[in-house]
Amino acid sequence: MGVLDGKVAVITGATSGIGESTAELFVAEGATVILAGRRAEQGQAIAARLGQNAHFVRADMAREADITDLIQGTAARFGRIDVLFNNAGHGLPPFRIADADIATWDFMMTVHVRAVVIAMKCVAPIMQAQKSGSIITTASVAGYRAGGSSHAYSTAKAAVLHLTHSVAAELGEDNIRVNSISPGAIVTGIFGKGIGLDPNVADRELATLQARFAKAQPIPRPGLPDDIARAALFLASDASSFINGTDIVVDGGAIAGTRFSQGIAGRRDMTAAIEKAAKGAGM
Ligand SMILES: NC(=O)c1ccc[n+]([C@@H]2O[C@H](COP(=O)([O-])OP(=O)(O)OC[C@H]3O[C@@H](n4cnc5c(N)ncnc54)[C@H](OP(=O)(O)O)[C@@H]3O)[C@@H](O)[C@H]2O)c1
Repeated sequence: MGVLDGKVAVITGATSGIGESTAELFVAEGATVILAGRRAEQGQAIAARLGQNAHFVRADMAREADITDLIQGTAARFGRIDVLFNNAGHGLPPFRIADADIATWDFMMTVHVRAVVIAMKCVAPIMQAQKSGSIITTASVAGYRAGGSSHAYSTAKAAVLHLTHSVAAELGEDNIRVNSISPGAIVTGIFGKGIGLDPNVADRELATLQARFAKAQPIPRPGLPDDIARAALFLASDASSFINGTDIVVDGGAIAGTRFSQGIAGRRDMTAAIEKAAKGAGM
């Protein structure tokens, strides 16, 4: 028996990374999963690997009609939607605000915020008729902490954090829970894609990230897509039936603080510099 037995889940951005891992876990836990993304070949191959309870639907989150078709088509085919995981996303390296490209800014807001609003708008009446449902959105630690990501990405992720609060306050009254997950540094192809690599190459070339991300937070290993999938499973399942309007940060302690050993080393350097300066001044 799985914790999602009998549930129907739509996962956007399921052709790689966090979405793919979540689809795998949800199917293993008994859900029927509709995987969405633009890369049909990848999506169909993943669905075939996951078996008869996984179905790929090609959908571009920048297109309102694709999102509407995804949600309404799923409800028509399977009779219900228990879980919507708004997970599709795109990376973008940092830029100076004076250099902001407004078309790129609009694109980031379209995929990360507008698409989530459209998907919520479409799924709300379906879940309201059921009097149940769980909507989960992938936010980011970038929505809390500035400096490590582009202005556009951070702003978009901060927006979905508050969209989650706002919609949770409304839909909670119909027993529909609306929550988000904020991953820290997770080893996926999003970083390579953000700098323009071919998506399929970026999804394979992850060794450099593995090594770097092992040191990105107090927990001494890289964050993996499965870490986020497990949080999504909890929010999708009835085990979280009183959790609404909140964000689960899954970052190995990254926004809690600097790694202690790094902090101590920095402090030691500073102490040595003060002592040296004091000696030089003859004190
Ligand atoms: N990895 C991290 O460190 C990290 C940290 C914080 C938050 N996140 C968030 O986690 C989510 C998943 O990212 P990931 O790290 O798993 O990266 P990923 O492997 O690159 O996955 C991104 C997914 O989004 C889909 N996607 C992108 N643009 C789309 C569009 N216009 N329409 C439909 N699908 C689209 C991609 O599918 P197609 O290419 O097939 O369209 C892909 O399946 C994103 O929202 C990201 O912002 C990631």
